[in-house]
Amino acid sequence: MHSRLRWLIAPLLLIVFLFTACQGVMVTPADQQQEEVSTELNVLCTPQVEWCEGMKAEFEKANPDITVNFVRMSSGESLTRLRNERDNPQFDIWWGGPIDSFVAAKQEGLLEAYDAPNMANIKNPDLMLDPDHYWVGIYVGSLGFATNEDWLEENPGVEAPTSWDDLIQPEFEGQIMVAHPSSSGTSYTHLCTVLQLMGEEEGWEYDRQLAQNVLQFTKSGAAPAKFVGQGEAAVGIVFSHDIVAEQEAGSPLVLTFPQEGTGYEIGGMGLIKGAEHLDAAKKWFDWALEPETQGLGPKYDAFQAPTVEGAEASRPELLEVNLIDYDFLWCGEHKKEFVDKFTNEIAGAENLKK
Ligand code: G6P
Repeated sequence: MHSRLRWLIAPLLLIVFLFTACQGVMVTPADQQQEEVSTELNVLCTPQVEWCEGMKAEFEKANPDITVNFVRMSSGESLTRLRNERDNPQFDIWWGGPIDSFVAAKQEGLLEAYDAPNMANIKNPDLMLDPDHYWVGIYVGSLGFATNEDWLEENPGVEAPTSWDDLIQPEFEGQIMVAHPSSSGTSYTHLCTVLQLMGEEEGWEYDRQLAQNVLQFTKSGAAPAKFVGQGEAAVGIVFSHDIVAEQEAGSPLVLTFPQEGTGYEIGGMGLIKGAEHLDAAKKWFDWALEPETQGLGPKYDAFQAPTVEGAEASRPELLEVNLIDYDFLWCGEHKKEFVDKFTNEIAGAENLKK
């Protein structure tokens, strides 16, 4: 080799060698960040607070190095909160609440996709898993009617409703309670059920008539079951598992379903885009898709049906009713439009109760 060429190549080889060697030991700030193990996890929790508390305790037991902080918030409120915190997210994971809101959150770029290994456990991926893995289903539950037994006794001749049409009859004037769809996912499931079952035009007209019989719109979806149990109104439109939970707590409630078909929810879960504790959030995500975890519901008064193989429904009869073919994508994609229409044309969201 020409000696001049050798002089040129030798320093080059040295540089390549040093660069490769340094790569092995050099730790960039980005790497440092990735290697940091989170000791905290902030959960946005939409199911009932008893279940949120139970899940926190169970997760901490399984992961003693992680402290879970959760805030219980209804679906619509959660979505608003995530929108407002878009540039500085305070939550790492959103657990629970109908997937219509997760569909909307994905559309607005608020969620982070995650290929969780335990997604393989999902019973019905076509229905319960976002094809791009931004959200996954964690439970299923149907809408029902809760009627106060004492009120029925005091009003002989009136039966617990078994049809949507019953709710708009004069005997229930001022006696119906349901949440407001701007704050509540339960109520949005109800709104979108009616629109699908009756068609948009007739559905909105029905909702206008129903509002005449509504005593009060509540903030949280399950609240009407509590209020009706206390005798504040005769009938609540609530997820059937929340009605069962109230019955278990001793409330005098009768559970019925509309025979022409009822809507149902798939409760969702998704990582928050830009989350600070993504590693811990992924642990929760995988853990929430274990059959053992999903089997914990009844221990914390939650009677929704599980979504993973190996976990059995505690109240299978709640889904053995006439369910409509609920279109979660359509409802999710139109959520803002339908909620705004409801708020502007049917009932404002100011002064919501509980
Ligand atoms: C209750 C139900 C859940 C449901 C949630 C939605 O907690 O048990 O199954 O997902 O309501 O809450 P929201 O207050 O938004 O109606």
